[in-house]
Amino acid sequence: MQKQLEIRYAELPQSDLSAGDSELLDAARGAALRAYAPYSHFRVGAAVRLANGVVVEGNNQENIAYPSGLCAERTALFAASAAHPGVPVEALAVIAIAPDGQYAAALPCGACRQVLSEYESLHHKPIRTIAYCSEQCVRLFDSVADLLPFAFNM
Ligand code: THU
Repeated sequence: MQKQLEIRYAELPQSDLSAGDSELLDAARGAALRAYAPYSHFRVGAAVRLANGVVVEGNNQENIAYPSGLCAERTALFAASAAHPGVPVEALAVIAIAPDGQYAAALPCGACRQVLSEYESLHHKPIRTIAYCSEQCVRLFDSVADLLPFAFNM
């Protein structure tokens, strides 16, 4: 039997975001500027808002032994969980700056989606993802399930 899966997301200019989402994106933008990306020169910033209102920022951290580096999203999520264990994640914003200094369309990679998915199912609360492509195009996903359907689980 053929089945079909529907993925929902919105695309809108940053000026149409809620104040909270726009602030989270600005925090991610600030974090991107502090990325440690001497190998790719591709700077990514992420900001996580927790249910207690705390915002935790992260950025990509590269390493000369390439696989040892970590994406911005997981840097932020792990820092948030380390400092505030058990507090649900409400939203994550992500933004990317290409080597030429222009914004590139940002979307969490597969490994980051898996990590997001675990925090979402842990707290039974959807995590919003706010992914920046340009001033005119910000993508909003209401749940990680829309970014990673059929996520691995045990
Ligand atoms: N990167 C992130 O920080 N987040 C993603 O979702 C994808 C990729 C980083 C990893 C590496 O430092 C650089 O971007 C180029 O791949």
